[in-house]
Amino acid sequence: MSKTKIVVIGVGAVGATTAYTLLLRERADELVLIDANQAKARGDAIDMNHGMPFLGRTKVWAGSYEDCAGANIIIITAGAAQKPGESRIDLLKRNVGIFESIMTEVFKYNQDGILLIASNPVDIMSYFSWKKSQWPVHRIIGSGTLLDSARFRYLIGEELGIDPRSVHAHIIGEHGDSELPVWSLANIAGTRISFDEDQKDRIFRNTRDAAYEIISAKGATYYAIALALDRICTAILRDEGAVLNVSTLLQDYHGVSDVYLGVPCVVDRTGVREVLKLQISESEKELLHKSAEKLKGLIQSIEV
Ligand code: NAI
Ligand code: 2OP
Repeated sequence: MSKTKIVVIGVGAVGATTAYTLLLRERADELVLIDANQAKARGDAIDMNHGMPFLGRTKVWAGSYEDCAGANIIIITAGAAQKPGESRIDLLKRNVGIFESIMTEVFKYNQDGILLIASNPVDIMSYFSWKKSQWPVHRIIGSGTLLDSARFRYLIGEELGIDPRSVHAHIIGEHGDSELPVWSLANIAGTRISFDEDQKDRIFRNTRDAAYEIISAKGATYYAIALALDRICTAILRDEGAVLNVSTLLQDYHGVSDVYLGVPCVVDRTGVREVLKLQISESEKELLHKSAEKLKGLIQSIEV
């Protein structure tokens, strides 16, 4: 059997936590850490290797871009992160510059892997990477609203005393301030969730603004996104056909085209195998259009 290899580019708070999560869950035979700060990547690799007597399967090392050769998945968590008070969009110009150089290097050594992007603003960074790559769109995936949907499901579950794994509810659109909750389809075992408007407002606000709260409390978010990235890797490596709210290129999705946004997608070893069209309400369609227009305007502001 061929070995599975995952590369993590950008071993800061998100990248290091993701690598550690992949290691604990023995997701790959080989795990490569790459960072502009080589000492940080080297230190993390040594530290993780010292845990091998308690784990044992994964070979971890701090590498260079040449190590992208043969990788099944390349996760990108490099770049600027929000400071308290900043939005994800505030990172756009800085991260486009950083991605230019990262993509050039990655594409020299890998032409058939899957790129999994988490750096913000994630939908635009994913679109930008796709444009630069000329790879088929299904192999460039953004983490999208998978994290937001997890937050949403957790908060609904807390409100009702239900395990969040039994809550079916979606956040779609931008991973950011213009995202929207699909209340019209939210359910538990097919049973409609009957919250009043105040409850809905509070739960959605707490979902949408969660990152601001966490960043102002401790500087960064990283545990839940690491689990979300691990979930996507699992769906790919196990060829699951799992439905996950990742970011992908939409084409005539309720009239939205030519923009990456988070919507439910079938994820398997090919990447995004299929985009599922949710039967959302008219007001939800309007919000989805607004989210798409916001991102399209921003895409025009960068040279893609
Ligand atoms: P961080 O500042 O802790 O780490 C960023 C890392 O990128 C640093 O180690 C830095 O040395 C490295 N880096 C910078 N330029 C590089 C380059 N040219 N090549 C290689 N490495 C480079 O930031 P953190 O908190 O880990 O966040 C990383 C990104 O992930 C941010 O853009 C953040 O907004 C995003 N994020 C996305 C989430 C999502 O749901 N999609 C959730 C949480 C964070
Ligand atoms: C998050 O939602 C900051 O995008 C990051 O946690």
